[in-house]
Amino acid sequence: MDTPHDPYADHHAGLLHVHRELLALFDTLRATWEHMPLKPTVELALGAGNALLGHHHRESEGLFPGLRRYGRLRSADVAFLDARDTEHRALHGLCVRLLDSARAPHPKVSELVLLGGQLADAMRPHFADEEAGLAPERLRLMIAPDALVELGRTLGGPPPP
Ligand SMILES: [Fe+2]
Ligand SMILES: [Fe+2]
Repeated sequence: MDTPHDPYADHHAGLLHVHRELLALFDTLRATWEHMPLKPTVELALGAGNALLGHHHRESEGLFPGLRRYGRLRSADVAFLDARDTEHRALHGLCVRLLDSARAPHPKVSELVLLGGQLADAMRPHFADEEAGLAPERLRLMIAPDALVELGRTLGGPPPP
């Protein structure tokens, strides 16, 4: 017999998975040896940067507005989401610098590695705060289970990471 899924635990597991994958990309970029061929490093930087922008877009334009709309948020929850949106904007600026460097006519591996490392450092505390604030026992207080499932559906798929 199948065990029923807990949408809060599923959501959190998805979030952890996406964050780990993103960090792995940026840690790989940071660890890239300076004399690596340029092309794969540029491709890694573009892939990592676009994946981060995509994840934050999904949160700031999908999940967070959905929680505000469907949720039963206390002022602390609103402040939590607003703080994460502010961090997204700061990370966005750094990430755009990385993508611009990768798309420049003559990209430099050393610059991509430096920006990748700065992003990895900035992402870690942001991810940790987000994972703590959206932990199953916290999210359960913010939104009803059917509303969380409905929100996942409106975002196009299972409960959004
Ligand atoms: Fe985030
Ligand atoms: Fe996130």
